[in-house]
Amino acid sequence: MRLIIALMLGVIFSVAHVTAFAEEQSKIAKRVDALLQKMTLTEKVGQMNQYNGFWDATGPVPEQGDAKTKYEHLQQGRVGSILNVAGHEALREFQDVAVKQSRLGIPLIFGFDVIHGHNTAFPIPLAEAASWDLTAIEQGARIAATEAAAQGVNWTFAPMVDISRDARWGRVAEGAGEDPYLGAEIAKARIKGFQGDDLAAVDTIAACAKHFAGYGYAEGGRDYNHADMSYSTLYNEVLPPFKAAVEVGVRTFMNSFNTLNGVPATGSIMLQRDILKGEWGFGGFVVSDWASIMEMTKHGYATDDRHASQLAVIAGSDMDMQSFAYVNHLEDLVTAGAVDESLIDDAVRRILTVKFELGLFDDPYRYINKKREEEVLGNNTHLKAAREMAKRSIVLLKNETNLLPLSKKQKNILVVGPLANDKNSPLGTWRLAVKDDSAISLVEGLQQHTSAFQYTQGVKLSIGKETFADPIVVNTTDRSGIAEAKALAKNAEVVVMMLGEHGYQSGEGRSRTDLGFPGLQQELLEEIVAVNKNIILLVASGRPLVLSWADAHIPTIVQTWQLGSESGHAIADVLFGGYNPSGKLPMSFPRSVGQVPISYRVFSTGRPEPEEKVFWSRYMDEKNSPLYPFGYGLSYTTFGYTNMQAEVRDKASIRVSITVKNTGKRQGEEVVQVYIRDKVASLVRPVKELKSFKKILLKPGKSKEVEFILDRDSLSFYKDDGKFVFEPGDFEVMVGGSSGSVLTKTVSL
Ligand code: NOJ
Repeated sequence: MRLIIALMLGVIFSVAHVTAFAEEQSKIAKRVDALLQKMTLTEKVGQMNQYNGFWDATGPVPEQGDAKTKYEHLQQGRVGSILNVAGHEALREFQDVAVKQSRLGIPLIFGFDVIHGHNTAFPIPLAEAASWDLTAIEQGARIAATEAAAQGVNWTFAPMVDISRDARWGRVAEGAGEDPYLGAEIAKARIKGFQGDDLAAVDTIAACAKHFAGYGYAEGGRDYNHADMSYSTLYNEVLPPFKAAVEVGVRTFMNSFNTLNGVPATGSIMLQRDILKGEWGFGGFVVSDWASIMEMTKHGYATDDRHASQLAVIAGSDMDMQSFAYVNHLEDLVTAGAVDESLIDDAVRRILTVKFELGLFDDPYRYINKKREEEVLGNNTHLKAAREMAKRSIVLLKNETNLLPLSKKQKNILVVGPLANDKNSPLGTWRLAVKDDSAISLVEGLQQHTSAFQYTQGVKLSIGKETFADPIVVNTTDRSGIAEAKALAKNAEVVVMMLGEHGYQSGEGRSRTDLGFPGLQQELLEEIVAVNKNIILLVASGRPLVLSWADAHIPTIVQTWQLGSESGHAIADVLFGGYNPSGKLPMSFPRSVGQVPISYRVFSTGRPEPEEKVFWSRYMDEKNSPLYPFGYGLSYTTFGYTNMQAEVRDKASIRVSITVKNTGKRQGEEVVQVYIRDKVASLVRPVKELKSFKKILLKPGKSKEVEFILDRDSLSFYKDDGKFVFEPGDFEVMVGGSSGSVLTKTVSL
């Protein structure tokens, strides 16, 4: 009875909620229309113009150059948004000009790259994805939104939901890895975290699904490069996280720098008008990527900025980030009849709607509040959550001799590696609002657990200062610290080595052809291995590295990514067993760069096996499989999988169950993963596709039956024309703790 009442109340509540939302939307639509009536064409185009923060708002007003022009534009109502400025003082000054000096006083929307935390750095997004913990990921985005909103920010350019299969591409650090299903689930969690239930609340911000689309398939893994793919690849691999973003109500999209099948994404009618705003009914707005409208000229798609503006607006790019193209040309294009004013109205309507939803018209200063900023930024619980998230993001790759976890009594530990004492690198890429050098380093983290260690750098990673805007100059000559490290290692009982990439060696513009340890780190590793094999290798990186040599020579390897503000604490918690690692790889780790792009989600060739024969689909010098597959990760305990069942539930869905047992001696978490293969289809399907997962906690010796329902949608796929089809037949269902190790059953539908 109680259950029935609860269910009824639930239904009443959700109906009331939906009705209230619809009423609110219709009120907003009326207010938008009324405002639109009053706007001149210049002012409308102004809303579509976004500038990078162009003056030190707390200093004198700019008097010359670009900044002066932009300032005047602000006064004239020719700017709709400012990006990458935060803090009550600066934002109040910008908002003052827009609200008090422009004719209609339309408030600005402030955008910012809140990518993994805001003031408190959370692990880079790829690392967070390794947690497979949707609740923790949502919570991380919630905290980031709370901090950003307290600093006056209304809108984040996140999440990046590009599928990334090519570890050479530096921006894999910003995404959720290689898989469309995992990517879609994580996209939803992040968007819910940023936007909450009410966009007008003072601790929520609008999210932005980016980069639409195909950016992660840049040829050769070189950033900004073109992407070429079949439509079925686009629909089945690239679009699912974007579609999921629309389904959970993301308010904005960002288009991308790349061309897709010959058309710049920024100028793509197919992507923005047909799919996003047409098929998916997206009601928010699309911002261009940084100057991507202007870049259509460089692509050879537009003759000049004017032409680029025309192509972009027709294609459905609503806001111009920093190209000066719309503000300089759109008005004239409309007057000349080259662009229909209804397109401008549509774009402005979308932008104003989001501003209304954020509550900016009710109070343009609602997010600008000194007291709140101070209170929120000093909040210690954010650091605790960042530490928790960081622990959950760590992936144990190898623990052959059970060196881990370390005992508190462990004596004579040597810590080596340039990154182990670094307080900046763990903050990773894109952390514009985080204080430099503010992360807990590994050395600091270890100090909380033991004093029985000493630290030596071994080699410098780079020469000079690492900054977001400059290329890193890698040290390839200074070997002066190696001898000392080697001498100390000879007498150590355990050597903890932290090697990898600096936080600024991945991210935008950081493509690499070599996926080894930059500089002299590999040499250092080999020198140390020569005198001491008891090594725990901690790999700090923003992407999968090639760890084949390490895997062959070192007993213990832990993937520690760039874990944010609490990095050192989290790693030390794992090393000393305070937290039992539970992360699983969201991207395959290749054996060599030549295998890249590599994914578990491949198609069978006509000659799949055996690898050792000549005329089969293979490399002469390398295996086909990755070193560590997608979904892989160890624990300090072990898990057994038995009693797998897979049966038809009704004509178009499958029930799967499995018993998972903690067969080791510690409590631990396991990510139980379900994959399928559609055995025969009118379009060849991958040999494995992730379709569901659950993260469970088990005490030692305990078992749990885990159940999954694979519905019709999870057994369907997109054809080349974008049609979503279900084709009955045989499906292989696979369950396991990694894509590389599964139990299988075949089900006929
Ligand atoms: C360019 C990047 O591609 C995009 O991801 C970012 O949000 C914008 N710059 C704004 O900083």
